[in-house]
This record gives sequence, structure tokens and C-alpha cells, in this order.
Amino acid sequence: AVEKSLRPQTLSQYIGQTKIKHELQVYIQAAQKRQEALDHVLLYGPPGLGKTTLALVIAHELGVNLRSTTGPSIDKAGDLVAILSELQPGDVLFIDEVHRLPKNIEEILYSAMEDFFIDIVVGQGAEAHAIHYPLPPFTLIGATTQAGQLSSPLRSRFGIIEHLTYYNTTELTQIIQRSATVLNVTITLEGAHELARRSRGTPRVANRLLKRVRDFAQVAGRQEIDAPLVSSSLQQLQVDSAGLDQTDRKLLQMMIQLYHGGPVGLKTMAVNIGEEQETVEAVYEPYLLQQGFLKRTSRGRMVTSKAYQHLGLPVPDQNGAK
Ligand code: ADE
Repeated sequence: AVEKSLRPQTLSQYIGQTKIKHELQVYIQAAQKRQEALDHVLLYGPPGLGKTTLALVIAHELGVNLRSTTGPSIDKAGDLVAILSELQPGDVLFIDEVHRLPKNIEEILYSAMEDFFIDIVVGQGAEAHAIHYPLPPFTLIGATTQAGQLSSPLRSRFGIIEHLTYYNTTELTQIIQRSATVLNVTITLEGAHELARRSRGTPRVANRLLKRVRDFAQVAGRQEIDAPLVSSSLQQLQVDSAGLDQTDRKLLQMMIQLYHGGPVGLKTMAVNIGEEQETVEAVYEPYLLQQGFLKRTSRGRMVTSKAYQHLGLPVPDQNGAK
């Protein structure tokens, strides 16, 4: 059987990101009343918080088609032209990882976004000339984990810019309860709450862990997932009481053992744990900062005393980890 999607389809089913939802509701209604395409939308924030889901929801609420692609997968101008030329009036074009669009492709988007046309250059040398190609009005939804990496000409062409933030435990509990219903498993409120607390504020993590806990429950012949089962499952998955995984702990331990807790630059952090710098910056660091295990200083990142305590290490009094 095909697994049902855990993604909500409407704004009313979408849990959390309340301010963003309320804003989008207004902009969507206004665009519909004017019978215009919704203005272009930039969604940014850490991975797994629901940027793609929100793009699907927006298209669904607008009642239009959604075309979906990613920045790094478009390498020829023709790829983008092909996608743009298939759009119907009002459609949504979703570009994930929009900060990784090649520069020449990005430049094609400028006129497409601003005035709904593209100029395609055909021929070579003296024969070269541009063909003016009109497009239907459409909505570009761009998603990125790093708004700072977007060029300013591109960023300035998005009329609606929304920053997704980590979900609180109450919201994640609701998402887990909804997902459990979709997956047809029973989880107690305490179980959902424990799972929520240890899911890095991230629905994608919560839903992935829920599926793994469901596996443990299935094999143990349990009808219901409760808090002790969540705890023992997460312990096996090496997700600790604060929701940190092996890589999070490795990062903190490395900074302590090799650099006395920092300051350490991003590049050094990445090299020492064998991850891409972009991954450290987009995935690991934001949550560790938000939870107060890391702090930023002008000279680099430093481990906090909270991190030493969490790892069961003595807090040094000399290195400034206050
Ligand atoms: N599944 C994943 N993210 C969700 C969200 N924000 N609301 C409801 N269900 C979700």
C-alpha cells in the first residue's frame, strides 16, 4: 500500500508558523479577489520545517498547479525556459534551494519575475539576437536555508518574505498526533509529548522518529506507543534527552577536546566532523545555537557551559564558557 502523505494540504491543517499562516491567508485572499497571481514568495529557514509543504499548501489554497524544481538541478537556460513555458496563468513555480541557482539562470528569472517575459538569445556572433517571449503571470515560491546566500537582485524581487522558525513542543505534539492518525498508530499524549521534546523543533525529524518508534512498537507487539517506549526507542536511535543526535554531540565534543570549547570557525567545525560547511551552518549550528549549547562570538563559535553540563563534562572556568 502506498503510504499516505503526512503533509497537510490546507492552511487550516498546517500546524504552527502561526504568523506566516495568517499573513499568507490575507495575501492569498487578496490575490484571488483581484484575480491576479500571488506575489512571489521567499521561504527561508532551517531544513525540515515545512517550506516545501507550505508551497504545496499555497498552490492548493490558490487552486492552481504547482511545478516543482530545485536550484542545482537547473544547469541550462533551456531547462528553465522549458519549465516557464509550460506555466498556466496563476500557477506556482516552486524552486527549492533557490540560493544554488547558477548565476546565468538566476538572471533569466529577473525579467520573468518582474515583468513576466524572458529574452532568449538565439544564434551566434553577428547572428545572435534575442527573442522576446511573454509568460503568463505566475508565482515563484523560492525556498532556501540561507537567505544570506541569495543575491540581492533576486531577493528584492520577492514581494513576500517569510522566515520559518523551529516549532515549540506543543505544536510538534499536535503534528505527531496528526501524523499518528494518518499512519494509523496509537500514541499517548505523554508519548507524543516526549517525542516532540526530542525532535529538534523540526516536523521532518518528528515524523521520521515517529515511524521508527512505530517499528519498535510493531516488533514488540505493542498496540500503543507510550512515553517509556518512546524513550527506549530514542535511546537505541542515540537521540538523547535534549534531542541531540550523534553528530550534534560529536560537534560539541570535538570543539571541547580539540579547541578547549572554542572559538572555532565554521570551516574548522565542518572539517573536523566530516560534514559540508553548508550542512553545519544550515542544519547543526542553528539548533545548537537556539538551544543554547553554542554561542556566536566575533572570533567564532563557542561551546557554552550548558553543553559541558549536558555532556557530563566539568565546566571549565578559564575559557570564557560562561
Ligand atoms: N507535517 C509536517 N509539517 C506539518 C505542519 N506544519 N503541520 C501539520 N502537519 C505537518
